[in-house]
Amino acid sequence: MSEQPIAVDPDFYASHDAYQPSDFESETTSLASSIYRGVMENGRRYQTIKEGEYWAPSDEQQFESLEAGHLVCMILDSTSDNPLFQAPLKNPKHILDLGTGRGNWAVDVADMFPDANVRGVDLFPPPLDWLPPNCVLEVDDVLQEWTWRTPFDLIHMRQMIASFTSEEWAKVYKQCYDNLAPGGWIEQWEGDAVVRCDDNTMPENCHTRAFGVAVVEASENWGHSARTMSEMRRSMEEAGFVDVHETNYKMPIGPWPRDSVLKEAGRLHYHQWASGMEGWALYLLTKYGLPQPWTKEEVLVLMAKIRAEIQNPRIHIYQRAKRVWARKPTTEELAAKNASAAPQIKQEPAA
Ligand SMILES: C[S@@+](CC[C@H](N)C(=O)[O-])C[C@H]1O[C@@H](n2cnc3c(N)ncnc32)[C@H](O)[C@@H]1O
Repeated sequence: MSEQPIAVDPDFYASHDAYQPSDFESETTSLASSIYRGVMENGRRYQTIKEGEYWAPSDEQQFESLEAGHLVCMILDSTSDNPLFQAPLKNPKHILDLGTGRGNWAVDVADMFPDANVRGVDLFPPPLDWLPPNCVLEVDDVLQEWTWRTPFDLIHMRQMIASFTSEEWAKVYKQCYDNLAPGGWIEQWEGDAVVRCDDNTMPENCHTRAFGVAVVEASENWGHSARTMSEMRRSMEEAGFVDVHETNYKMPIGPWPRDSVLKEAGRLHYHQWASGMEGWALYLLTKYGLPQPWTKEEVLVLMAKIRAEIQNPRIHIYQRAKRVWARKPTTEELAAKNASAAPQIKQEPAA
């Protein structure tokens, strides 16, 4: 699916001939407010466990965006038996979700596998007042030494873009490897910050695309590259994972595609952008933006321009995304590898 241009819905224009910006009939709801305070900056709340060291806000607005993002992922894989993960695990018992955010993925996996113990971990407590009995959400920094004792069957990450330096990523993948049972799986889902277009409807000076480029530049200026999607597969291989697979996606922004699955994904992805983009931009651009840090007002002006673009049904932009899953070698595979790597002792013929 991913290499085909996304076909445009011609009927979509009929309802937009007298084009008025709209929210595409919002269905996401605001989330209940959290009792946890965090620290405020530019009117947004950030976590305090690693104060000043992670870019996304942890507040109701950003959680709303994460919820929409979760639904986009579910819809893009809605024809598969299990849209939550692709690793071939039929009966996982211990599952870990790193950077669980609002906890949507962890809660859905716990519901789908009631016999599994599911843990989510994040820097900020998720704003949930009910969890399935087999799901635990913890507040912690995954860069610290892990204290979970039972090896996991599956470790999952999603949208961890620009969370870590390359050295920190290597440490995270090593911790994943060390804490998986032999034959256990790692799975990660990431998107590209820079939007694309297949049909020349993207304006030449597209603000949404310029925003993605500015965010990637700022992330690299900070030393926490936002090129996570392109790097995760190689990083997993370097950490020793084998049997690596990937699926590539296109996430349209807005309900402009003809295909009903992509249309619904696009409608929700628009909401992910509308509620999320300010939080994606503020920290990175006001601290690390180039050629010098941006003012909050400069960021907000760009947000208004992007809002107009993503509400315009005649601009057919999308983001690429990728899911990669890979396996820790089994005990037998590791033994065979160690045996072949061991120095061979040459037998001298008997005198
Ligand atoms: C963009 S959000 C994605 C949330 C969730 N995975 C999802 O897909 O909805 C990334 C999350 O990673 C968390 N995070 C970043 N660095 C972390 C760390 N060192 N330890 C734990 N969580 C971290 C952030 O707090 C944030 O909630």
